Amino acid sequence: MARVNCLIAALSLHTIWLLVVLTKPCSSLEPKTTPSFPAILIFGDSTVDTGNNNFIPTIFKGNYSPYGKNFPGHLATGRFSDGKLIPDMVASRLGIKELVPPFLDPKLSNDDIKTGVSFASAGTGFDDLTAAISKVIPVMKQIDHFKNYIQRLQGVVGVDESKRIINNALVVISAGTNDLNINFYDLPTRQLQYNISGYQDFLQNRLQSLIKEIYQLGCRNIVVAGLPPVGCLPIQETIAFENPLKRNCLKDQNSDSVAYNQKLSKLLTNLQPQLAGSKILYADIYTPLIDMLNNPQKYGFDHTNRGCCGTGLVEAGPLCNPKTPTCENSSKFMFWDSIHPTEAAYKFIAEALLKKLGDTQNWN
Ligand SMILES: *[C@@H]1O[C@H](CO)[C@@H](O)[C@H](O)[C@H]1NC(C)=O
Ligand SMILES: *[C@@H]1O[C@H](CO)[C@@H](O)[C@H](O)[C@H]1NC(C)=O
Repeated sequence: MARVNCLIAALSLHTIWLLVVLTKPCSSLEPKTTPSFPAILIFGDSTVDTGNNNFIPTIFKGNYSPYGKNFPGHLATGRFSDGKLIPDMVASRLGIKELVPPFLDPKLSNDDIKTGVSFASAGTGFDDLTAAISKVIPVMKQIDHFKNYIQRLQGVVGVDESKRIINNALVVISAGTNDLNINFYDLPTRQLQYNISGYQDFLQNRLQSLIKEIYQLGCRNIVVAGLPPVGCLPIQETIAFENPLKRNCLKDQNSDSVAYNQKLSKLLTNLQPQLAGSKILYADIYTPLIDMLNNPQKYGFDHTNRGCCGTGLVEAGPLCNPKTPTCENSSKFMFWDSIHPTEAAYKFIAEALLKKLGDTQNWN
């Protein structure tokens, strides 16, 4: 197939060029082939919740302005940002669909089902206690929704095709930040039980169970996002410092994030050979985010230590609401609210992720 494409590319050029091209190895002309995924399936928290919380009784919702300020039609969909999230960007670039709908939306079409959904829930974590505090759907419980999804998919396309779709779907898992922020740093619930290393192990054990369960249910291509530099989230800086003029990333929380990510990457490397036929990739979001923080001008950012919504120091969720003024140009801000990146920042992370997905070596 690659050879054929190469030849067609060569033939379309002028004869002189044709000779040059044909005497050269074809590899430079071959487009990098990203494996084609029939569907995308998402598990996790607000970084990937495209609106499930709209349909459950929680105060952690993003379905009112100014959320969605830069979304097509300025719609507040429940996405915790000013625009699209990484799952939307990835699905679009891989040619799956433009937007990934939330599974709990009662208006889901059969086409939506065939090409995948998000089961994610803002405010949640791998630790059920995190979700209990925010009254949202624990990541482990999202598996139950996934089981309902499979039934529905079987109803639409039949059992065999359903199996094929799930086997070949791209699965993205993104959570963990809330477990640390809500349960460990800000409300020291779990600190009474664990030290940071022990709590990280607890979370990653839960993640491991999640991966094994969805593998049993047919998933094979799984991407797991690591932690961002948690100590650079504006809300963490606010909680730690009294002086709003002197806002710096919290070094300890960042080094905890680095340690978590190192463990995660190792866990995933060890897990893949245990699950025959699986491809499990670690998605490093820490590196692109820390680069934005260190070199904001490279990304067009004027502000990296406060969000665009309100003062940017505390506003998120119910505190970022239709009465809250926002910055003029959110693309100049790395953070949209005190917790979540802007669409502009998500775009840069999506680029890094797509590069990794496009590297076919990762799928061999
Ligand atoms: C954390 O706790 C574990 C036991 O749960 C212990 O083995 C380990 O040494 C502790 N680590 C630190 C840095 O205190
Ligand atoms: C908003 O900011 C971005 C990034 O700095 C810039 O490229 C864009 O031109 C700005 N848009 C307006 C309308 O000023």
